[in-house]
Amino acid sequence: MAIQSVCVLGGTGFVGRHIVRLLCAQGVAVRVPTRSTDRLRQALTSLPVEVVPADVHDIAQLTRLFAGVDAVINLVGILHEQGGQTFQRVHIELARKVIEAARIAGVGRLLHMSALNAAPDGPSAYLRSKGEAEMLVQASGLQATIFRPSVIFGAEDSFLNMFAKLAKWAPIMPLACADAKFQPVWVENVAQVFVHSMGDTASTGQRYDLCGPQVYRLRELVMFAAACRGRHPLIVPLPNPVAYVQAGVMEWLPVKLMTRDNFYSMQQDSVCDCAFPFGITPARLEDIAPQYLA
Ligand SMILES: NC(=O)c1ccc[n+]([C@@H]2O[C@H](COP(=O)([O-])OP(=O)(O)OC[C@H]3O[C@@H](n4cnc5c(N)ncnc54)[C@H](OP(=O)(O)O)[C@@H]3O)[C@@H](O)[C@H]2O)c1
Repeated sequence: MAIQSVCVLGGTGFVGRHIVRLLCAQGVAVRVPTRSTDRLRQALTSLPVEVVPADVHDIAQLTRLFAGVDAVINLVGILHEQGGQTFQRVHIELARKVIEAARIAGVGRLLHMSALNAAPDGPSAYLRSKGEAEMLVQASGLQATIFRPSVIFGAEDSFLNMFAKLAKWAPIMPLACADAKFQPVWVENVAQVFVHSMGDTASTGQRYDLCGPQVYRLRELVMFAAACRGRHPLIVPLPNPVAYVQAGVMEWLPVKLMTRDNFYSMQQDSVCDCAFPFGITPARLEDIAPQYLA
């Protein structure tokens, strides 16, 4: 079935903006709900997108958002819990509501964003909630496809940019989980996969791990990001008990660089050995990131 209209939950975010741009380029009509129209305007100003201020946690509003669209993409996610925005509410309950609203509105196709290592018995609350949401999606009876990326990089990422910024001020960087492994994947490749999969019936019922071409330890990624800014900080790997205490202290800062839950997530390497789907060749970090980090 050719998909002509899509509702993208989380379409204003880092990954969402790339997916929305690609969809618009293909002539697909895109509806993006947001809690903040200002944010949407900033993010997607020049695109022919239908802006809908909405509370996606309200099932009636969600059903109206889905009326008349061919597919739903759910990208909504948080890395840290804050106030009422818990993993339970944002990952699990929202997934349940999306499924219910899609059924009521008669939308058959659902693309769901998860994360690599998501599992109901995963090492962190973030990964467990993503894993439970996956189970709901798989059992939904909808034509669903699930995507599980490692860390995603791109001009507006919050991962490499954060380390590049920190390196500007810190000649010495105490680093938690310095040997944790990641396989960063380019945001544009993630967007391509979503858009390709949407009209590809063979991807229905599938789960795709999305990883870039190379594995890096966290300390290598930090050194790389710093070097792109002409900085060469001394990385001091923290032993796990110290890293855990540091994460606990950081949870109290207004800007959350790290939490104990992030620490637990990094106890499992974020890598995979499967081929990138749909014949797409994933970009190398070294070919993309220096352009925006510098
Ligand atoms: N970035 C990565 O490295 C990475 C890696 C693996 C998986 N993922 C997953 O990919 C998805 C997108 O990530 P991202 O980096 O693009 O995130 P992001 O930039 O923080 O964007 C999150 C989006 O979700 C919406 N949102 C956030 N909290 C919400 C809430 N409580 N209720 C309703 N909407 C909410 C925001 O919409 P408004 O503010 O406009 O309402 C925004 O559009 C997430 O599910 C994330 O877990 C990301």
